[in-house]
Amino acid sequence: MSKKPVRVAVTGAAGQIGYALLFRIASGEMLGKDQPVILQLLEIPDEKAQKALKGVIMELEDCAFPLLAGVIPTGDPLVAFKDADYALLVGARPRGPGMERADLLAANAQIFTAQGKALDQVASRKVKVLVVGNPANTNAYIAMKSAPSLPRKNFTAMLRLDHNRAASQIAAKTGTAVGDIEKLTVWGNHSPTMYADYRFATVGGKSVKDLINDQVWNADTFLPTVGKRGAAIIEARGLSSAASAANAAIDHMRDWALGSNGKWVTMGIPSDGQYGIPKDVIFGFPVTTENGEYKLVEGLEIDKFSQERIDKTLKELQDEQAGVAHLL
Ligand code: NAD
Ligand code: LMR
Repeated sequence: MSKKPVRVAVTGAAGQIGYALLFRIASGEMLGKDQPVILQLLEIPDEKAQKALKGVIMELEDCAFPLLAGVIPTGDPLVAFKDADYALLVGARPRGPGMERADLLAANAQIFTAQGKALDQVASRKVKVLVVGNPANTNAYIAMKSAPSLPRKNFTAMLRLDHNRAASQIAAKTGTAVGDIEKLTVWGNHSPTMYADYRFATVGGKSVKDLINDQVWNADTFLPTVGKRGAAIIEARGLSSAASAANAAIDHMRDWALGSNGKWVTMGIPSDGQYGIPKDVIFGFPVTTENGEYKLVEGLEIDKFSQERIDKTLKELQDEQAGVAHLL
């Protein structure tokens, strides 16, 4: 007998990432080839955005996906998040000309406060929320704080793209297969301050750190390459990453829902104080996932170099939080 459909809300559904994401969700790549889905798609009420959304839905229909059990387009978060089992918050205000980071934070704080409240009111109590829209960690923090009746652990931010970028760089450096790399993580903020950490990583059972054995490459090439990859893609494409971002969102949600089979993956999750990260800060951590729950990998040794990096990315996140505190 076929499974009951689950409700997947996606915001910013007519944007670039939306276009790379929806078809993969509808084809079963996120929740499994036996799991029917109902897509609940939120766009701004603006006529142009709603018309573009209609076009995307026409294409979804034309794919005749057997797992697509329904599509609900809307401009209202209360409709988009109604009984949602999964919510991918992609839509965000992009930085405009002359806009300072503080303006961007404030504009997004309004969006994510409203969406957090709507999730609180109408979503499934078990809703799994992934925030992709930037600044992703702080937007997830705002949504979580605006949804007091939902468990804090339901709110996550996307660090998986950074994790995947780091894995790819390591595979190229060591001449190994990217799929064989294990125990990699990215600590902190989805921003250039993130700390991609391969000290514990292995490939084919061998230590990645020993294989590379080059701290200068780590500090001067690897970390800046991974940290500034988003900007490098904007520079090359004239647009920010979309297919790779959608792919990372699929990876994040699939592993959360279906399990990582013991593998470490990176998720931005609300801290409970581990590794000295204050409670509630949404921080990139190594986790394993099983039975629909993530579990932080605890007890890793943090050396001086790593501590400095972690302190730097934490400070940036705390500054972002302070910048929106008056809006919460
Ligand atoms: P885009 O501009 O192509 O699409 C965003 C869409 O969101 C637009 O269609 C817009 O109308 C919609 N939108 C804006 N405000 C909304 C709201 N309040 N409710 C619903 N929809 C809303 O942008 P994109 O390339 O798809 O990127 C989306 C976001 O993802 C950006 O903030 C981008 O910086 C971020 N991003 C994050 C990562 C990551 O790793 N965390 C990676 C890439 C991009
Ligand atoms: C990315 O990492 O590709 C995105 O967050 C885009 C950006 O602004 O860096």
